[in-house]
Amino acid sequence: MTDTTESPTAGTTDSARTVAVTGSGRGLGLLIVKALLDGGSRVLANYRTPTDELTALHESHPGRLHLCQGDIGEESAAEALVTAARGLGRLDAVIHNAAIIRDQPLVTMPVADWDAVQRVNLRGSFLVTKHALRLMMRQRYGRMVYVSSGSAVLGNAGQAAYAASKGGLLGLSNTVAQEYARYRIRSVVLAPGLLDTGQGAELGEDLRTQKAGRSLLGAGRGEDMAATAAFLASAQADYINATLIRADGGVAY
Ligand SMILES: NC(=O)c1ccc[n+]([C@@H]2O[C@H](COP(=O)([O-])OP(=O)(O)OC[C@H]3O[C@@H](n4cnc5c(N)ncnc54)[C@H](OP(=O)(O)O)[C@@H]3O)[C@@H](O)[C@H]2O)c1
Repeated sequence: MTDTTESPTAGTTDSARTVAVTGSGRGLGLLIVKALLDGGSRVLANYRTPTDELTALHESHPGRLHLCQGDIGEESAAEALVTAARGLGRLDAVIHNAAIIRDQPLVTMPVADWDAVQRVNLRGSFLVTKHALRLMMRQRYGRMVYVSSGSAVLGNAGQAAYAASKGGLLGLSNTVAQEYARYRIRSVVLAPGLLDTGQGAELGEDLRTQKAGRSLLGAGRGEDMAATAAFLASAQADYINATLIRADGGVAY
């Protein structure tokens, strides 16, 4: 039977919320942390490699930004993140953002590269989900946001490992929604198109122009995608559940 008990913070402003973000040192993850802080949330930021930008944010938001270093492919890092949340008293949402790419044609893809991509992108999200769910179940409230990719929906030449890992997030997310709705835990997948930040900005000029041309609106702005992710992690998005949201400007065909 569905438990209709809501969290004390459900439906309130972001200032009462605690949100965890994985892969926060740079790129979209860093922008998401900024967007959440600007919205008033308390943020728990997992990162692997320290960066000056994240350190500066930490210093300018005492008591509101908590850093948690770790390789998200390791269960101990997922546990440490949730232990830190427990220390803060609650965990309203997790934004699963950490990811790697190892692009190459499938027929020449080393198994080690396939495994490395699944380990961070899919296993890492599974591990954080597993441990965060326990805390959210006790709260009778929670939200998962999985940052996927347009390649999970459409496929993308050269991205078999990455696209498979990002497609796997949809199965994970929808299963979380089905299994834990009775604890008022929601789950959603966000599938961005090409962005002007992070992985998108690192592409060669020609490839970037080609990929941007696949969108009716060209490459997306990292700041806009971060705002979308922050919205999905907010109480205002509480009725969005068990679905995938494409944020790619519309596909040109
Ligand atoms: N940018 C785009 O065009 C685009 C488009 C569609 C989807 N996305 C998705 O958006 C998300 C962010 O992408 P991005 O472009 O910002 O990527 P990015 O610049 O490559 O940043 C990835 C982040 O994940 C972290 N990370 C990697 N492996 C980790 C691990 N084992 N444990 C903890 N953190 C780890 C990285 O930390 P290190 O600094 O230590 O490597 C980095 O902070 C990803 O999920 C990506 O798939 C991006």
